[in-house]
Amino acid sequence: MEKTKVAVLGSGFIANIHLESYTRFVSDAQVVAIYGRNKEHAQKLAEEFGIPKVYDDIDQLLTECDVDVVDICLPNFLHHKACLKAAAHNKHVICEKPLAMNLEEADEMIQACESRGLKLMYAEELCFAPKYERVRAMVEQGAVGDVYMLKQGEKHDGPHSKWFYSKETAGGGVMMDMGCHALAWFRWMNKGVKVKNVYADMKTVFHNKITDCDDNTICIVEFENGVTGMAETSWAKPGGMDDRIEVYGNKGVVYADLFRGNSSLTYSVDGYGYAAEKAGSTKGWTFTIFEEAFNQGYPQELTHFIDCVRNDKEPCTTGRDGRAVLELTYAAYESARTGKKVSLPMEAVEVPYPMALWK
Ligand SMILES: NC(=O)c1ccc[n+]([C@@H]2O[C@H](COP(=O)([O-])OP(=O)(O)OC[C@H]3O[C@@H](n4cnc5c(N)ncnc54)[C@H](O)[C@@H]3O)[C@@H](O)[C@H]2O)c1
Repeated sequence: MEKTKVAVLGSGFIANIHLESYTRFVSDAQVVAIYGRNKEHAQKLAEEFGIPKVYDDIDQLLTECDVDVVDICLPNFLHHKACLKAAAHNKHVICEKPLAMNLEEADEMIQACESRGLKLMYAEELCFAPKYERVRAMVEQGAVGDVYMLKQGEKHDGPHSKWFYSKETAGGGVMMDMGCHALAWFRWMNKGVKVKNVYADMKTVFHNKITDCDDNTICIVEFENGVTGMAETSWAKPGGMDDRIEVYGNKGVVYADLFRGNSSLTYSVDGYGYAAEKAGSTKGWTFTIFEEAFNQGYPQELTHFIDCVRNDKEPCTTGRDGRAVLELTYAAYESARTGKKVSLPMEAVEVPYPMALWK
């Protein structure tokens, strides 16, 4: 069987990780085209990963290239438009988180793909991270008894590109950017169970000079089966990327740390090349990560999506999951404004982006 042909849209941070993952780990896929706003930058990635065609125009790429899958690695405000274009050309779609800027966009994306029999695959890598998946399997086997609380925290000192700090291009701050991981992972652990309500507290504590978006949030999600999810999400924590989970049950507990737990504790007088995502200086004590993409689940995620396309399987994270996460994100911003728990499903509300519900 021929390889599945993929076009990657975007040539920034996450495009790089997807390209490394396809090239090293997804033997059934071949990236045959890349789009980048900055063609020179895209060209560099094309050379590094052996991609034959480079475009700075998405329409031209879709018209000229015979691809099966379009992988959207663009800023949040471009996901909807790119997805509709790909669907109009009958391409399956992989879309990075968060799915869209608002629920109307999410609905149109789902409709555009489902009406044509195309797959819309929501790229939430925590559902594939090997350490977290080991935890999920253990918990399903009863390792901690009946689960009553899940915790997830993702923290660093702020994103690498300007567009993340603007609500008009990102949709919100850290809740939109990284809270979506916690919400998706809680739903993944608690599959099929509905959320009863959401409470959130949000502040801008670190990046006030450059953004009015939230950069430090806590969010508490109550599920109908009594499980509580507690998310701590921050762009205000120096010292590199942190991602941790905790699972509490009536017969045990599991703690898992994706970055520190997989790192070599290093001391270097002069510093060295690279320690981990957003780690900053490598002088003194550092945590040196290995196989960063693999440990976070990107190759496993993309292998799964390509398998779904090749063998017509239902992806384990779809556009509908992305939409559900977005709805919970709406509830979080609404709660941050009112200071009250918000019951799900929320009353229909039209906003350009979730943060408009907060301020
Ligand atoms: N799964 C994860 O953990 C994870 C991590 C990082 C980013 N992401 C998601 O991936 C997407 C891209 O994020 P990133 O970190 O790669 O961002 P980035 O800023 O590093 O790269 C964005 C890419 O889009 C292009 N771009 C920017 N503005 C554009 C515009 N106006 N028109 C056309 N192209 C434009 C840039 O040139 C660049 O190629 C976002 O949706 C983000 O939330 C996911």
